[in-house]
Amino acid sequence: MREPRTQRQSCVPSERPGIKWHGRAPGRVNLIGEHVDYLGGVVLPAAVDRYTDVWGHRAGEWSIDSEIQGGLSYVRAVGEELGVEPQSVRVSSDVPPGSGISSSAALLVAVAAGLRPEMDGRDAALACQRAEQKATGVQVGVMDQFASALGRRGHALLIDCATLDYKAVPFPDQVAIGVIDSGQHRSLANTPYNDRRREAEAGDPKRRRHVDSEIVRVHGFVDALHAYDFDRMGRLITESHQSLRDDFEVSTPAVDAIVARAWSLAGCYGARIMGAGFGGSILALVDREHIPSFTTSIGRPVFFCTTADGAYVRKQ
Ligand code: GLA
Repeated sequence: MREPRTQRQSCVPSERPGIKWHGRAPGRVNLIGEHVDYLGGVVLPAAVDRYTDVWGHRAGEWSIDSEIQGGLSYVRAVGEELGVEPQSVRVSSDVPPGSGISSSAALLVAVAAGLRPEMDGRDAALACQRAEQKATGVQVGVMDQFASALGRRGHALLIDCATLDYKAVPFPDQVAIGVIDSGQHRSLANTPYNDRRREAEAGDPKRRRHVDSEIVRVHGFVDALHAYDFDRMGRLITESHQSLRDDFEVSTPAVDAIVARAWSLAGCYGARIMGAGFGGSILALVDREHIPSFTTSIGRPVFFCTTADGAYVRKQ
C-alpha cells in the first residue's frame, strides 16, 4: 500500500518553481441519493480503495501522460481553477475509467491535492466540480469530488448539498460493496444528464417524484445503517433503482436486467444503477460471505471495494 500522506508534503509549484509534486485521490461509490446533489438534496457516497496518483512539475504548457481519455482538459481546468501555472503531469490510476466509480473526480482531486494540499477540502471539492463542468459542459453536482476529497475509511459520508455540511456515518464490514460493470460505457457529455437536471429544476412532476422520494430514502438508509438493518438498506436501494428507472428515467434495459439478476442472488441485500446512469455501473450490497458465489453467478465483471480516506482527510 502506498503512503497517502506523501501528498500532504507536496510543494506548490507556482511558489517553488521546478519542484515536483504528487497528489493521490480515491474513486467513490454512491450508496444512495442519486440525481439529487445538484438540487440541494442529501447524498450518501463513500470514497473507496481505488486510487489515482498524479505527479507533476511546472512547464511551459499543460501536458499529460495518461491513459484516461480527455484527461488533459480536466487537469488544465482544475489547474486554472486553482490559479497555478501550466504543469506537465503523469497519471497512474487503478480507478478504472468508465467503471462508474468516478475516475474523473479521482483525477481532479488528485491534481488539487498535489497542487494545493493546504486547501480546505470543501473548497477543493467545489473547485474540482467547477473544473469538471468547464472541461465537459456537463452541469455535475459536487458529490463525486466531495467524496473523493473528504470520504472517511470505515464510513459513508452524509452530505447536505445545500449547505455542504457533512457527517461520517459508520459503514459495517459485513456489508460488501460490489460494483458491476454493465458493459455500457459512456461519457456524460453524450447523455441527457443536463436535460434531466433542467427537467427536475423546472419542477417536472415525475422527475420531482424521484428527487423527493430519494431524499426520504437517504434518511431511511442512514437510520437503517445505525440500526444494522441490512435488509432495510437493501430494500431502499432497490426502491431507489425503481425510481431512477421509472421516474427519473436514467436506466437502460441492459442495466435493469443485471440489477434484476443481482436481486435474485443469495446474499444480495439490494442493487441499483449507480452514478449518472444511462449505462455505467451497478451497485450491489452483498453479505461478505457471499462474495464468491455472487461473483461467479452475476455473469458480469464485478469488483468489491472498501471505504477509504479522501485526499483531504488530515492524518494524525
Ligand atoms: C454524476 C455526477 C454527480 C451526480 C451523479 C448522479 O456522478 O458527477 O454530481 O449528479 O451523477 O447522482
